[in-house]
Amino acid sequence: MLTNPANNATVTYHEGTQIFTDPVLEYTPGAASAFVVDRHEYLWTSFFREALNTRWETHNGFLNGRRIFHTDFVDGKHFEPGNPDFPELANLSTGLTINNSCVGCHTNNGRGLAPVAGQLPNTMAVKVSSGSTDAQGNALPHAYFGKVLQPQSRNGGVPAEATVNLIYSTINGAFNDGTAYQLLSPNYSVQVLDQAGGQVNFFSPRMAQTIVGLGLLEAIPEATLLQRHDPNDSNGDSISGRAVQVTDTKTGDQRIGRFGWKANIATLEQFTADALHEDIGVSTSMFQGPACGANQTACRNAGPAGIELSDVRVNLVAVYMQALGAPARRPETVNNADVARGEQVFANLGCGGCHTPSMTTDYGHPLAELRGQTIKPYTDLLVHDMGDGLADRLTGNATLNREWRTPALWGLGLTEAVNGHTRLLHDGRARNINEAILWHGGEAAASQSAYKAATAVQRNDLIKFLESL
Ligand code: HEC
Ligand code: HEC
Repeated sequence: MLTNPANNATVTYHEGTQIFTDPVLEYTPGAASAFVVDRHEYLWTSFFREALNTRWETHNGFLNGRRIFHTDFVDGKHFEPGNPDFPELANLSTGLTINNSCVGCHTNNGRGLAPVAGQLPNTMAVKVSSGSTDAQGNALPHAYFGKVLQPQSRNGGVPAEATVNLIYSTINGAFNDGTAYQLLSPNYSVQVLDQAGGQVNFFSPRMAQTIVGLGLLEAIPEATLLQRHDPNDSNGDSISGRAVQVTDTKTGDQRIGRFGWKANIATLEQFTADALHEDIGVSTSMFQGPACGANQTACRNAGPAGIELSDVRVNLVAVYMQALGAPARRPETVNNADVARGEQVFANLGCGGCHTPSMTTDYGHPLAELRGQTIKPYTDLLVHDMGDGLADRLTGNATLNREWRTPALWGLGLTEAVNGHTRLLHDGRARNINEAILWHGGEAAASQSAYKAATAVQRNDLIKFLESL
């Protein structure tokens, strides 16, 4: 039993599994912000764990924020039976919405549901735009439908916006050794429900992302991201990578965006307010009033006019995500020979050119727990041109549509335990890690070709390594 002195929280582990030595807990020198996952605990709760160095003050915020993250904004019920309900949050979801709670989309703090052919599940969000962007390249909202399509309305006078239908076609391919593979290529069609809104030509379906370790990603200094920012590939490694510039809604400051599949939000606090507004239909001081487009008159008139959730509560949700630990590597496989070889394959294929193995957080983050730690997130937090195969249709700018933020890979091996599926990539089209790699193009084309050229043993080793994360 491992006890966190700050809060007496305990984590069980197996004596003798070398849990406290490298490379199991390799995320930090003291491994303080990692959490330990026991081999018998690959459960749906694996992403609920608090970082082991959480202080008492933060722990309180963590618990209160968790309650908000896990409560339904319609009936005020906690999603896990046996936990106290939060009646004050009931009926705060008004107007246009997609889902009732944060955890309703981030299943068990992981990804959303596997997208199968048919209507998109209500754990996905479909971003929309006018087709144009601001000066920094961020999509501008659709004049009527706003930033996100809401398929559901809680107000009889306001029509729901649209649903999106998905069909898959099969792409056949083969590795260089002749082994065949198949990929699922999605084809989306928007069914507009509110005809006053006109057509939706620019849209981007997104799967909900895993929310573990985000505080550590928030604590990586902007200077580190800017050091890697190389939009014109001046270092000639055929990987460019762009730090996305965004405006912080709370302060008005220019910041580097790091959250979301396109990295267009800089802070967890703003992400919380944005998700409350667009996905659940709850207004806050950052995004006041209902989630409507500029010309969506009935929606605008329906309100609410004021603020439904206080700044204190928005911040608690951010603290919850900041204090959720990053999973330590899986102790039972981390020392296996195939995993060790796979780590070498990862390096040889150039995966680390974007999935940067190691980063260091600085001393500027408000939570002391997150400061000065060497972490292993396997992301550079930059957006990369990933080729036409992965492009969305969010804007009229084909280059921007091909860009995606490198996802962190920590916790990848826990996807199935947490989510009950292994769907990956921004819209969940990849059925597993192998397919996710095969979809890589653009700046990652060389890595993808090298993967196809690798032997079956090397490919298997690579996947074993990724599953050990
Ligand atoms: C309708 C489903 C849905 C709901 C409800 C929802 N999310 Fe999300 N979440 C998503 C999707 C989709 C993304 C990816 C968005 C993007 O690409 O910009 C996401 C991404 C995130 C991210 C970024 C993670 C990363 O790795 O960059 C955070 C943080 C987040 N959500 C927090 C929340 C919080 C907090 C709530 C509740 C207030 C919430 N979400 C409610 C679907 C949802
Ligand atoms: C040029 C940058 C780049 C390189 C090189 C690269 N990746 Fe990626 N990777 C990305 C981006 C960006 C995404 C997200 C793409 C999307 O969702 O459409 C991604 C997604 C993934 C995912 C899915 C993660 C998730 O959460 O859905 C895996 C797994 C992955 N990469 C593994 C690899 C491996 C293994 C290699 C080397 C063979 C590699 N990547 C090389 C940028 C890169």
